[in-house]
Amino acid sequence: MSTKRKILVTSALPYANGPIHIGHLVEYIQTDIWVRFQKMRGHQCIYVCADDAHGTPIMLRARQEGISPEELIARVAEEHKADFADFNVGFDNYHSTHSDENRAYSTLIYERNRDKGHIAKRTITQAYDPVENMFLPDRFIKGECPKCGAQDQYGDNCEVCGASYSPAELKNPVSAVSGATPVDKESEHYFFKLGDFEDMLKQWTKGGHLQKEVSNKLDEWFEAGLQEWDISRDAPYFGFEIPDHPGKYFYVWLDAPIGYQASFQNLCDRTEGLEFDEFWNKDSDAELYHFIGKDIIYFHALFWPAMLHGADFRTPTAIFSHGFLTVDGQKMSKSRGTFIKARTFLNHLNPEYLRYYFAGKLSSGVEDIDLNLDDFTARINSDLVGKVVNIASRCAGFIKKRFEGKLSDQISEPELLNEFIAAGDSIAERFEKREFSRAVREIMALADRANQYIDEKKPWVIAKEEGQDQALHDVCSMGINLFRILIGYLRPILPATAEKSEAFLQVEPLTWESLKTPLTGHEIAKFKPLMTRIDPKQVEAMVDDSKEDLAKAEAAQAKPTGPLADTPIADTIEFDDFAKVDLRIAKIAKAEHVDGADKLLQLTLDLGGETRNVFAGIKSAYAPEELEGKLTVMVANLAPRKMRFGLSEGMVLAAGPGGKDLFILNPDEGAEPGMKVK
Ligand code: 2FM
Ligand code: ZN
Repeated sequence: MSTKRKILVTSALPYANGPIHIGHLVEYIQTDIWVRFQKMRGHQCIYVCADDAHGTPIMLRARQEGISPEELIARVAEEHKADFADFNVGFDNYHSTHSDENRAYSTLIYERNRDKGHIAKRTITQAYDPVENMFLPDRFIKGECPKCGAQDQYGDNCEVCGASYSPAELKNPVSAVSGATPVDKESEHYFFKLGDFEDMLKQWTKGGHLQKEVSNKLDEWFEAGLQEWDISRDAPYFGFEIPDHPGKYFYVWLDAPIGYQASFQNLCDRTEGLEFDEFWNKDSDAELYHFIGKDIIYFHALFWPAMLHGADFRTPTAIFSHGFLTVDGQKMSKSRGTFIKARTFLNHLNPEYLRYYFAGKLSSGVEDIDLNLDDFTARINSDLVGKVVNIASRCAGFIKKRFEGKLSDQISEPELLNEFIAAGDSIAERFEKREFSRAVREIMALADRANQYIDEKKPWVIAKEEGQDQALHDVCSMGINLFRILIGYLRPILPATAEKSEAFLQVEPLTWESLKTPLTGHEIAKFKPLMTRIDPKQVEAMVDDSKEDLAKAEAAQAKPTGPLADTPIADTIEFDDFAKVDLRIAKIAKAEHVDGADKLLQLTLDLGGETRNVFAGIKSAYAPEELEGKLTVMVANLAPRKMRFGLSEGMVLAAGPGGKDLFILNPDEGAEPGMKVK
């Protein structure tokens, strides 16, 4: 065997504000297969990952749920770890970017770059939410598309017409956090001077560290010019405060890739003989690979090597980018039930099915891969159940019943066996180059060959013939040996099935090397089914469940309502839309201030027998005591919304330009709580 390599591998760190879904899993499964393959080859291969725990979305999500960001990320980390473990993604360490190690390396990398003059300071103007007192990231500003006028478009691109623009160009912008109109505000920011690294990066990106198509993309970016990168954010922010700059935080994308180092350091601290420097020093002879999605190439192929270089660390050996997942040829969709969470998949299907299907689709390129649900069922049933597992089940029974579970002392078809062993080199090369679909094709060609052998030899016929014991023993032992090699080659893809097979074969965990020596005179255990067929109903149920997930998610969607002012008359709606709105007279039974809310009052509304809790943005016009006893019109059939302050079960209507001039109804004879408004 060639020399033992030292390899450190990462997958992108998932954000700690949402569940893992099958789109994420393309990457974790791809990486895990590669890592397991390297381990089977006898190399030292370490796979680390972590939750990406910082940033505005996580801070706001925690607020919405009424918990601290620390509580949110702790809960999500547990969910993520369970999902990965159940998909047999075998991290050597899973850490968090909100960790001491990450703070230490982020500070170190920042300070080393700063001391070499790679950090600049400048005042910039940004959109600011005057209600929440915070600067707004692009995706938290909504408004009308400047090109086509579509309402409710986020930050910098329009989902309706596809136009790209700057958030400043949005018409009638509002903060997605409070609904307020953003104002421009100045603030001092820190920038990483990417341009300082232009020569180094040009060289690095041409140095064989990137896929061809990625390095071509980089040429375009170089032509466009390397801009300074804004690495600071103002409070309130969930992240690390920049040393010596109170109230300024590292932007989440600065400390995210440093999380790779942090996770590795955390592992070193717990592992005898594992040294951080051996893997990260400038002169390290270890290999370092980052598996990522094609959407985050800029961060990994430009910022990251530059930051590392500026801080005197080694740069990555390679960045492996992959494409996105489509389901049935389309973007994953919540309404179609194809936005499938890892947990939902696990509730219905064996995770190894997805690992195998993805492997059968993955290449070393960046093109998207498609999960076609019908093809998925057919492939698993025909390849894994029909071909691979079938070989063992066709032979194991005879070995057990007729030969006391012991394999023959001889290999009756050495040529066939050698053909299987020899294929290992080419299959290994496919795995090494991440051409998994080719590896799968070669393995399945061998499975066909093994089944053909058994079909030709017909052990079920020999079994009935007198004096053919040795022949039966030899054929079935060959079958088991061929199965062993196949399952060995599939082991990086199907670790759990391989483990069950190892128990059946009564062998140590298979390595590439061990596959070269067949089992003779060896006792095997009783065969238990290794995998079952997929019933299409299971897939249907999973899709249905994913639709339910959507309904729940929508009910829980928390978007505080904004003030009523400044809202232009919207596009027309059909009469049917209007008829759906159930307007009722409600009596304001109680009105209270809401802690921490500038515009909201909490109202208890009496609908004539039923009370509702509603948060209304009318504090600018009314003191709570002025409201009690008054009548208002409410939308009674609005789906409840979870807000930062609690559940809001409807909406009250008021009229007026806003501010102090916002009017609700006065008590009026004839209007009774609960009455329908026509
Ligand atoms: O795009 C994302 O989902 C990021 N959380 C990936 C971070 S990868 C690394 F840089 F940390
Ligand atoms: Zn548009």
